[in-house]
Amino acid sequence: NGQWRGIIEEYRDRLPVSDTTEAVTLREGGTPLVPAQVLSERTGCEVHLKVEGANPTGSFKDRGMTMAITRAKEEGAKAVICASTGNTSASAAAYAVRAGMVCAVLVPQGKIALGKMGQALVHGAKILQIDGNFDDCLTLARGLSDKYPVALVNSVNPVRIEGQKTAAFEIVDMLGDAPDIHVLPVGNAGNITAYWRGYREYAADGIASHTPRMWGFQASGSAPIVRGEVVKDPHTVATAIRIGNPASWAFAEQARDESGGLIDEVTDRQILAAYRLLAAQEGVFVEPASAASVAGLLKAADEGRVDPGQRIVCTVTGNGLKDPDWAVAGAPQPVTVPIDADAAAQRLGLA
Ligand code: F0G
Repeated sequence: NGQWRGIIEEYRDRLPVSDTTEAVTLREGGTPLVPAQVLSERTGCEVHLKVEGANPTGSFKDRGMTMAITRAKEEGAKAVICASTGNTSASAAAYAVRAGMVCAVLVPQGKIALGKMGQALVHGAKILQIDGNFDDCLTLARGLSDKYPVALVNSVNPVRIEGQKTAAFEIVDMLGDAPDIHVLPVGNAGNITAYWRGYREYAADGIASHTPRMWGFQASGSAPIVRGEVVKDPHTVATAIRIGNPASWAFAEQARDESGGLIDEVTDRQILAAYRLLAAQEGVFVEPASAASVAGLLKAADEGRVDPGQRIVCTVTGNGLKDPDWAVAGAPQPVTVPIDADAAAQRLGLA
């Protein structure tokens, strides 16, 4: 009874907090698991979307951030710092407000979506832009947190991963068991690491009968795990996953190998096609990076690698409103009509 309490209260006994830890929360988690009708038809499977854009700051990062900021506050930190392609910084900025902390963010100049920049600004974060990519930002953030009194809240902070694993718990709790396949976009590779940990934990405790195969998809221009080498100058329209040297690289490979899964790439064209399909045919508006999971599923299905009849969950990681440029680009301009029902009806094809 009552509203969803946020992931720490809902899963307290499975998270690294004590009985007395006071959660810093915006009631994150408890996000919708939406049956995907068109994707199910296309694949012959039962496909669901875990809609993480429904979190308080519009992305899955809130699950990790409630843990990171809660623990930082408990340990007496007055300031936090992160490197980000945009969503982590938006989330850190909001949770720092709740905790009464200073938040500093390092972002790649000109490569973060406007909505995410707006979030960090309006929550009062101190923003530094770097003439470099996310990987350079993370190097600098680590250096600062090593030398100065500021807590690092990137996913290299292990409690972030712990918080993010709760999405896997929710899926099993909602479906009654683990899916056969779980599909995710991969950038810094924290989230695939977190889901795998969550699924393994539930299977080990007998709450799920099995673990899913983990399928991760990188953007072709930013696919270091697929290539097997660091990408020095990563590029993709999906700025959230524009990362050339993922911090959780080895964990992502472990998730792939232990689960019998795969990590593959999708082109920007495939990402944008999935982005449009999700919005126009499933009614779910996500940001481009989020569509990499669905693009990957469709690519695998087209290649005949998806056996029908399976239960599949695709995580869509962030809200479409964060990066609306792609929704507007190339779309027809709305027409202007007089205040006249007959004229408007004609334009709508009703008359
Ligand atoms: N999708 C979105 C919308 C993201 O913002 C990110 C990562 C990912 C997918 C990839 O997740 O890094 O755990 O593999 N965004 C980070 C950020 C890097 O700074 O907001 P991952």
